[in-house]
Amino acid sequence: MTRITKAVFPVAGLGTRFLPATKAMPKELLPVIDKPIIQYAVEEAVAAGITDLIFITGRNKRAVGDHFDANLELEAQLAAKGKHETRDLVRNIVPQGVNCIFIRQAEPLGLGHAVLCARPAVGQEPFAVLLADDMMRGEALPTAALVAAYGANPRSYLAVDEVAPEDVPKYGIVRPGPTADEGGISVAGLVEKPALEDAPSRLASFGRYVFDPEVFDILDGLPPGAGGEIQLADAIDRLAAQGRVGAVRNPARRYDCGAKFGYLEAIVDTALAHPDYADAFSALLRDRIARIEARGTQSPDRSA
Ligand code: G1P
Repeated sequence: MTRITKAVFPVAGLGTRFLPATKAMPKELLPVIDKPIIQYAVEEAVAAGITDLIFITGRNKRAVGDHFDANLELEAQLAAKGKHETRDLVRNIVPQGVNCIFIRQAEPLGLGHAVLCARPAVGQEPFAVLLADDMMRGEALPTAALVAAYGANPRSYLAVDEVAPEDVPKYGIVRPGPTADEGGISVAGLVEKPALEDAPSRLASFGRYVFDPEVFDILDGLPPGAGGEIQLADAIDRLAAQGRVGAVRNPARRYDCGAKFGYLEAIVDTALAHPDYADAFSALLRDRIARIEARGTQSPDRSA
């Protein structure tokens, strides 16, 4: 059985939705409490057996490399102060036996092009793709589910979630195939960000994928699609037409951290589950809800 050991993290995006926070800082380093969102994705990949992390970076993304690189000076300072637990936290961001590779995407030509930039590092092996904007919480996570699906029946896979009608135009939407195979979903096509009335389903492909290396041949030479960009969804659509794509339902709770409200939800739920903050934070929320309810139809109390 072919094991999947490589994962590609496209991190070249500008993060304009979070300006001015992302003027000098990569959006992938926005923290959910004390961990940057890209680290959640890396941990999900490592938990699924990935040992080679391939980051496709762009302008202003050097801090992403710094985050995953050793910082011996910081480690020595923490050790000298007796802060060994914090030192280990910093040291183990990338576990032993896991390698990081950085490839620079010279021009922002689209997600499909970013994935194609990983070809020299991936070679002729199947690989995972994780978009850090989608943050997962749960016992079972989608990358492990995709890797398992590939192991059972090797071909490319998308993780999918059913989305609300108003969210359909934000995603690549699956055209389901006629037969559901082995509990999975067969994919006949993928339509990038359709209008609701043109959408073939409400099954949205989000930022977790596993690809057979044949996707590189399709991406290489793919004409620009929506927005003048080389779209990963277009390559998936072509693979799907050849019966080479399956879909796996997301087993986790997903937060769209590429949008401010999803990011806020991720922070709230992470705080509510955090051993240090759960009690105090629930008490804070209860207090605020009580104030909102007491306010009723009266004029808003901006102090809450
Ligand atoms: C990309 C993909 C889209 C997918 C989405 C998931 O779009 O092109 O198919 O559904 O990621 O977040 P983006 O959000 O980068 O515009």
